[in-house]
Amino acid sequence: MGKGRKHWLLIADDEEAFSEVAARLIGTIISRHPHCVLALPTGRTPMGMYDHLVAMYRRGSLDFSGVRVFNLDEFYGIPRRHASSYATYLRQRFLTRVNVRGENVHLLSAQTKDPVGECRRHEERIRDAGGIDVAVVGIGHNGHLAFNEPGSRFDSRTRPVQLSPECASQVGWNQPGTPCNALTMGIGTIIDSRQVVLMASGARKAEIVARALSGEVTAAVPASVLQRHPHLTVILDQAAARLIKGL
Ligand code: PGA
Repeated sequence: MGKGRKHWLLIADDEEAFSEVAARLIGTIISRHPHCVLALPTGRTPMGMYDHLVAMYRRGSLDFSGVRVFNLDEFYGIPRRHASSYATYLRQRFLTRVNVRGENVHLLSAQTKDPVGECRRHEERIRDAGGIDVAVVGIGHNGHLAFNEPGSRFDSRTRPVQLSPECASQVGWNQPGTPCNALTMGIGTIIDSRQVVLMASGARKAEIVARALSGEVTAAVPASVLQRHPHLTVILDQAAARLIKGL
């Protein structure tokens, strides 16, 4: 982890506690900054966090009416209501269960005929919102950050990408062997956020978490760039933290 920077490492006992810690952190940020701009992840990792945030909203302890939301990435060409669509995921698991206002939600369109323009507009909307306050991100088994696969430039911006066969085979919406395209915030876009929260849980993530956090900063492990971020909070469970040196 970087020196001279605001870096925190929170390690929860298990996956349930991990989701709760993440939700409490995001909840605290929203309570202190009701108009904050969030970049939000999808995938398995944050599911429990969203459930806890919804529960906090239902208890009346959290108000999302001023919060602005951007998504990190989306498959390109996926049918709009497909279960693997990240927009569908975010709407069903989170956005429609809390009082985020529709006009404050900015999701990359999987169906656009102009993917390059769609990515440019995502960047413009982020700029118009005053930049991202907090980017909440996961990490892929190959170290990818959003859909920035190994080899992605650290100064990359939101753009169309083609996913590696390894990554494409995990996502399960296209036929095996066919190209899998996506739109993703760039590493540069994520790194420009004022704060980054990295979440990872489970033993299967232990090796890549250790490489990303205590290995060389290299484009071969895109998430390793987070070591250079001035304000990073890493939330892990014990299983995912197990191989980090010096713990
Ligand atoms: P996961 O995906 O949460 O489903 O493990 C994380 C990622 O690929 O960024």
